[in-house]
Amino acid sequence: MVLSRRGSGSVVLPTGQTLAIHTRTNNEEDLPHATKKTMADHLRKYETLFTLTPQRMRMIVEAFKETLELGLQKPEQVVPMIPTFVFGWPSGKEKGDYLAVDLGGTNFRVCLVTLMGSGKFEITQTKYRLTEEQKHEDGQKLFDFCAESLKTFIDTNFGDEVEGGTGFKLKEGETLPLGFTFSYPCSQNKIDHGVLIRWTKGFGASNTEGKDVGEMFRKSLEKHNVPVTLTALINDTTGTLIASHYVNPSTKIAVIFGTGCNAAYMEHVKDIGKLKDMGINVGEVNGKEGEEMDMAINCEWGAFDSFEHEHLPRTKYDIIVDETSNKPGEQAFEKLISGRYLGEILRLIICELIDEGVLFLGQNTYKLENPYVFDTAFLSLMESDPTDELLMVIGIFSHFFAVETTLAERQFFRALAKLVSRRAARLSACGIAAIVSKMGYIDEGCSVGADGSLYNKYPGFADRIHEGLVDVFGEKGRNIITHHAEDGSGVGSAIIAAMTKIRKEAGIFPDL
Ligand code: GLC
Repeated sequence: MVLSRRGSGSVVLPTGQTLAIHTRTNNEEDLPHATKKTMADHLRKYETLFTLTPQRMRMIVEAFKETLELGLQKPEQVVPMIPTFVFGWPSGKEKGDYLAVDLGGTNFRVCLVTLMGSGKFEITQTKYRLTEEQKHEDGQKLFDFCAESLKTFIDTNFGDEVEGGTGFKLKEGETLPLGFTFSYPCSQNKIDHGVLIRWTKGFGASNTEGKDVGEMFRKSLEKHNVPVTLTALINDTTGTLIASHYVNPSTKIAVIFGTGCNAAYMEHVKDIGKLKDMGINVGEVNGKEGEEMDMAINCEWGAFDSFEHEHLPRTKYDIIVDETSNKPGEQAFEKLISGRYLGEILRLIICELIDEGVLFLGQNTYKLENPYVFDTAFLSLMESDPTDELLMVIGIFSHFFAVETTLAERQFFRALAKLVSRRAARLSACGIAAIVSKMGYIDEGCSVGADGSLYNKYPGFADRIHEGLVDVFGEKGRNIITHHAEDGSGVGSAIIAAMTKIRKEAGIFPDL
């Protein structure tokens, strides 16, 4: 919709809700609003709190590099640097039909992926939104739901003469290889198993942490007679790394900026010191030292600076977000960056100004007082509002929170959104810079496959990451370019399932 300066209109939010927009011109005198000067003074305070200087960024990068190194050398570190048992890059020649399921932060997705070789593929998929109850009930029940949904998908697409089906048929007793994207930290000692270290992104299903989620899912698949073989358990970042490289071989790193925030990259096996402690000896492969091989690492960098809080600039709003979360102390980096938290940070600032009597005097503000009601999509909409009067911002505050705003307040909210999201993008740049610097990619440059709602939908997020990389590295920072990644949890998962099948059939680490 194109917004006119005056009048009414509507816009559909990413959540599916419709937001009515209307202009008011003469209500600004009715209520005791803050003056333009007061808002400008407040903004200055927040600018100081939320601005990251290049010098500070470089300090964060140094600490980040040390943390990544430590995670590679020693088991059970805060940033766990998880070996994924995805050995090297895909050849691009992987072919065949694969199923992929994806349990992410918001949805459960089932995909049928046909890999056609030479970087080409086709995909058929269904998505289910997860309810808050499902995220917190018994873990086995959650996996039962996933297995049932997969069964329905297979019956629909592979059944007899199914209308709209894909035309695929399974022979009696035949099973399809399945890639399971489970986007939470799991420690793995082989590709098709993984013990959940901790839930992140607000999940809290019981009886799951510390358990092998691969085994739990297998149990549910057997219970529902689903004709699949769970071939690989993967993280969304690892899938994104492999899928992006499949279509663009200059990709060396993958990042997700969505409900959560994380990265994966390809490491030399010889530099993963802790493999020996884990009892994994890669030995010799086809006459080559196994140590000359590469393996993808799922960093789980969202945990950077957790518990100790030594390196990241946290404001009191960030501390409240952390302390009121279901996992205080954890995911310190993620809580400053990911889509799950940015709206909440802004809401806490607004609430403080309400309590101080600066904003919305004489108005009923109870709707703003509920945690997490201020969606990160609102920040994104506020920043993309093209109108002089900020009609979109009027609409958000009046429609969702039943409060009226003046132009000065709306400009202030928009400026705040920019501060919070810019800090997130610059911190993201620090994480990318740490991997680039550790791996020595800066001179030759590389592509970074990036995915997630924040990266894909937030206006200017990618540009702000690129600016941040120049602040860290100087002009050479321009050698590092992020681009929208291929669908890692669907296509990436299928490619990894294919690579694993090929690797094991060739007798390369058949037990890993
Ligand atoms: C959280 C998860 C991580 C995932 C990321 C993006 O950080 O712990 O596994 O990759 O979110 O979805």
